[in-house]
Formats: sequence, structure tokens, C-alpha cells
Amino acid sequence: MKLKLLLEKFRLLQIVGLTLIFLGFLPSKAVSYAHTASGRAKPKPNVDANPGNIPSGPLGDSIRLGLNIFKNTPKYASSYVGNKLSCSDCHLQDGIAAYSSPLVGVPGTFPAYNQRAHRVITFEERIQECFVRSENGSRMIPADSVEMTALVAYMQWISRGQPAGKTPPGRGLVRLPALNGNLTRGEVIYAKRCSSCHGAHGAGIAHFFPPVWGNDSFNTGAGMDHPAKMAAFVQHNMPLNSPGSLTAQQAFDVSAYIDSKPHPAFNTAYKSY
Ligand code: HEC
Ligand code: HEC
Repeated sequence: MKLKLLLEKFRLLQIVGLTLIFLGFLPSKAVSYAHTASGRAKPKPNVDANPGNIPSGPLGDSIRLGLNIFKNTPKYASSYVGNKLSCSDCHLQDGIAAYSSPLVGVPGTFPAYNQRAHRVITFEERIQECFVRSENGSRMIPADSVEMTALVAYMQWISRGQPAGKTPPGRGLVRLPALNGNLTRGEVIYAKRCSSCHGAHGAGIAHFFPPVWGNDSFNTGAGMDHPAKMAAFVQHNMPLNSPGSLTAQQAFDVSAYIDSKPHPAFNTAYKSY
């Protein structure tokens, strides 16, 4: 609900901003501000992700299962998950929000070369990568499992109408300058801006707020375990009640602090994923 209200607010800002620019009221500096302020909802992929529009029949059932897995991975793909995180905890708004690694249009960009694996991987292998790292799975989800097929079906469904092979708008995370985080400052920021939801000990609140460190969080092989990547996620998306309010330096500070806390160890048997 909160998220919806926020989005409404941003959309309004965007409309007001764009109207003022159109009428020539805002100088060019304010133009870039208007873009930043409305950044969360923009660029918005042209996507209809309303679950009510999922078709009926066997394919529709698979897409719906995929959406359920996406929203509650520990429940619907329990054999392959080793923590309490769902895909939607990091890929916001069920995978359609720009700059939180949206998945709209992404299936059509695979197979692709993967830096971490040093090889060309399929879309299914990219999903396996998030399972053994971000989801801390100890058993590899098979590429031909019902759960994998469902996830791919869901992501194909939100991608319908997107040009294959073209990088979708807002893909990945925002680009920040390379900074060094400071743990002492990070601890203060965490206590003030994050702990109300993610908890003083990083464990979150079950069913509401995801853990950011400890046994139920992502492991040391996850993208989120790198301060620069987490900072890019955090700066644009967190705190959830005021996204975009941290400076890049503050995002690095708090990410360095979270990164310094314990996370489950990545099983290096999966290092080619
Ligand atoms: C702890 C956070 C986290 C969780 C949980 C998570 N992911 Fe990811 N995912 C990421 C990050 C970070 C990236 C890489 C973003 C980047 O490097 O730009 C990523 C990338 C991806 C990509 C590639 C996107 C692209 O643009 O190439 C896919 C596909 C993906 N994740 C699917 C999933 C699925 C499916 C799940 C649930 C089973 C999941 N992820 C769970 C954080 C997470
Ligand atoms: C108002 C509650 C709230 C606050 C405050 C908040 N978060 Fe979050 N955070 C969430 C929710 C909820 C999610 C899951 C994504 C979603 O549902 O939109 C999330 C997701 C995350 C994730 C990815 C998932 C995970 O658990 O690893 C990270 C990292 C994160 N937040 C870091 C932070 C940091 C750092 C701060 C402080 C600067 C912060 N958050 C403040 C609610 C909050």
C-alpha cells in the first residue's frame, strides 16, 4: 500500500515537473532534478503486469505459479532456497521497477556472456545464479524444473511486446561514482534510516521486511554482498519510505556497514554460476 502511495506521489511530481518544463518555467538544472525526483517511476517500461490479465489455461497457471514464486520464493520454491528472501525483495514491484534490476525484456537478451562465470550463459542459468547466491540455495534448481519453467513463463509474460535483444529501459541499477564507505558513519545511518524496518540486528521482520544480514540473508557470493552494488540499489530504492534521499556517499557508508556484518558463506562448488 505504502509503495503504491509513494508511486502516486512520484507520478504527480513527474507530471507537475514535466508541465513546468514544457511551459518553460524551470531552468535546465531543475530539469535534471525533476528527472531525479521522479526517477523511481521513470523510465517506465511499457508493461502490463496486472495479474488479472494472466491468461487462463495451463500456460496461465504456470505464469501464476511463477508470480507466486517471485513474490514468495521460500514458500513456493522451498527446495532451492536457503534463506528468507524472495526475488521481489530485490527486484521491486514483482520485477518491473526500473533500476532495481527489472526483468522486463531481459529474457530476450540471453544467451549472454557472463563476467562472473566467464562464459556464455542461458537465461535459466542466470536465474540459477540468483538462486545459489542471492537465495543462498544449497541444492541447484534444475533448468527444466516446474519452478524454473514457471519463473521463465512469468518473466516472458511481463516482457511481451518488448523487442528481443534490446536492452530494456532502467535495466540493472543506477550508476554511482566509485566511493569508499565509512563503517562508523554507516552504522549511524543504518540506525536512523534502516533499522526501523530491517531491525537493529539486520534480521528484518518476518513477512514484512527482508533481512539484510545474518543466516536468513543473501550469501557472500551475491551481487548485493558487494558494497558498490548494494549502494547502487540502496541509493535509488531505499529507505523504502523515502527512496533517493541518501547521497551516494551515504549509500556507500551504509552498504559498507551492512557488508561488514555476517552473511552465509557462498558454496564455491557453484562458482561457475
Ligand atoms: C538479495 C537480492 C536478490 C535476490 C533475492 C534475487 N536477486 Fe536477482 N539480481 C540481484 C542483483 C543485485 C542482480 C544484478 C544487478 C546488476 O548487476 O545490475 C540480479 C540479477 C538478476 C537477473 C539478471 C538481470 C539482468 O538484467 O541481466 C535475473 C534474471 C535475476 N536476477 C532473477 C532473479 C530471480 C528469478 C530471483 C528469485 C528466484 C532473484 N533474482 C533473486 C539481486 C537479487
Ligand atoms: C519503511 C521500511 C524500510 C526502510 C526504512 C528501509 N527498507 Fe530496505 N527494504 C524494505 C522492503 C519492504 C524491502 C523489499 C522490497 C520491497 O518490498 O519493496 C527492502 C529491501 C531492501 C534490500 C534488498 C533485500 C535484502 O533484504 O537484502 C536492501 C539491501 C535494503 N532494503 C537496504 C536498506 C537500507 C540500507 C535502508 C536504510 C538506508 C533501508 N533498506 C530502509 C523496507 C525498508
